[in-house]
Amino acid sequence: MALPATDPTLTRNVLVVDADPAFVETAEQLLGDHKVHKARNVSDAQRRLVEESIELAIIGPTYAHAAGVSESAMLLDLQPDLPMVLVSDALNTEVLRAAIRAGYRDVVDVPLTPQKVAEMLSIIEQVHRREEEERAGRHKIGKVVTIMSPKGGAGKTMTTANVALTLAMWGDPSRVVVLDADLQFGDICISLQVDPQHTIVDVARDIDKLDEALLDSLLATHSSGMRVLSAPLEPSLADEVSTQVVVKTIGMLKRMFDYVIIDTAPFLDEPVLSILERSDVVLLVVDMDLPSVKNAKLALDTLRLIKFPFEKIKLVLNRVNSKARLDVNELERSLGLEVQAAISSDKLVPRAVNEGEPVVSLYPRSKVARDLRSVAALVLDEDEKIPEEEVKSRRWFR
Ligand SMILES: Nc1ncnc2c1ncn2[C@@H]1O[C@H](COP(=O)(O)OP(=O)(O)O)[C@@H](O)[C@H]1O
Ligand SMILES: [Mg+2]
Repeated sequence: MALPATDPTLTRNVLVVDADPAFVETAEQLLGDHKVHKARNVSDAQRRLVEESIELAIIGPTYAHAAGVSESAMLLDLQPDLPMVLVSDALNTEVLRAAIRAGYRDVVDVPLTPQKVAEMLSIIEQVHRREEEERAGRHKIGKVVTIMSPKGGAGKTMTTANVALTLAMWGDPSRVVVLDADLQFGDICISLQVDPQHTIVDVARDIDKLDEALLDSLLATHSSGMRVLSAPLEPSLADEVSTQVVVKTIGMLKRMFDYVIIDTAPFLDEPVLSILERSDVVLLVVDMDLPSVKNAKLALDTLRLIKFPFEKIKLVLNRVNSKARLDVNELERSLGLEVQAAISSDKLVPRAVNEGEPVVSLYPRSKVARDLRSVAALVLDEDEKIPEEEVKSRRWFR
């Protein structure tokens, strides 16, 4: 979305804080017709915040050090969504990180220029626009869908790729993102034939200055327009991606997209549990063999222990028509969950994987594609449901 043109005639209330009168004066000159409120120190500034409706705070070089940053950030206790910009005479990463962590919107270096001041003022508009969107309910928070199975080879990645692409084609592909959280052996990019320039390792390396624009630049784009955040390209790099990084990434992605579809590693370890806690829907993929059922049962026992909300879990059976027939009723009884969808076993699936295109788009008329669309439908709320007739008639990209 493009920023609305800046309206230069709008008078803004700007607070300028610094012990050096020369800095404050320069800022005041550059702010031209805007209403400038001056403060020599933080307690002065606090008083101004209470008395005036300040829309932006420019904090001067007096505060451009670790202690100054935390002192000035106390202004955010009074007005948490106040956009604050630090002007620093010693722009180093230490100050930068401290400021961003404390809640500053931006850090710029001296000297102030008309261009820098104009950029600061545009933050006010961004904030107002966001508030307006939230009021209008347009800024909808996306749905987080996690595909899990405590057993490798159960069909998680296959399900992730097909569900994500189905949701993308039912709606707006650019509003769907796939996060490959199988940090050691993630292969979603291979199944989707996406060649990532960046991975979640880059997200981890930039975590302190991560914002939506930076995160967006680290996403790859699938041929449909759907976005993908790749797993590390080598297992050894997985260590660089902490659970906090994954959690922060999910939090940001759900503000940027309608659907965040997450592929996971075949464990129920700390990272996967943290992802599950942040999920709206969990697709538990169970392959039709005894070890898979046994592991699913153990995983569900653990989730029951930690009081995970079971209504979020949708049980999906994979390879239902394969030779190893298990009794579905018995399976449901043993897992304590009803089967919500079933995927047939079909050689078109590995064939599609090798073609680098999910089966729902390569063979949209196959039975297995229809099965996978009903798995995707589990993710939708009642009012979002799409009838199968319409689904069939929709054109798929090639
Ligand atoms: N329904 C199915 N029919 C045929 N092959 C399948 C099916 N589901 C999965 N596979 C194949 O099984 C293998 C493992 O699937 P994958 O999605 O990579 O599992 P996971 O991500 O759980 O380890 C892949 O080669 C995939 O093509
Ligand atoms: Mg996988």
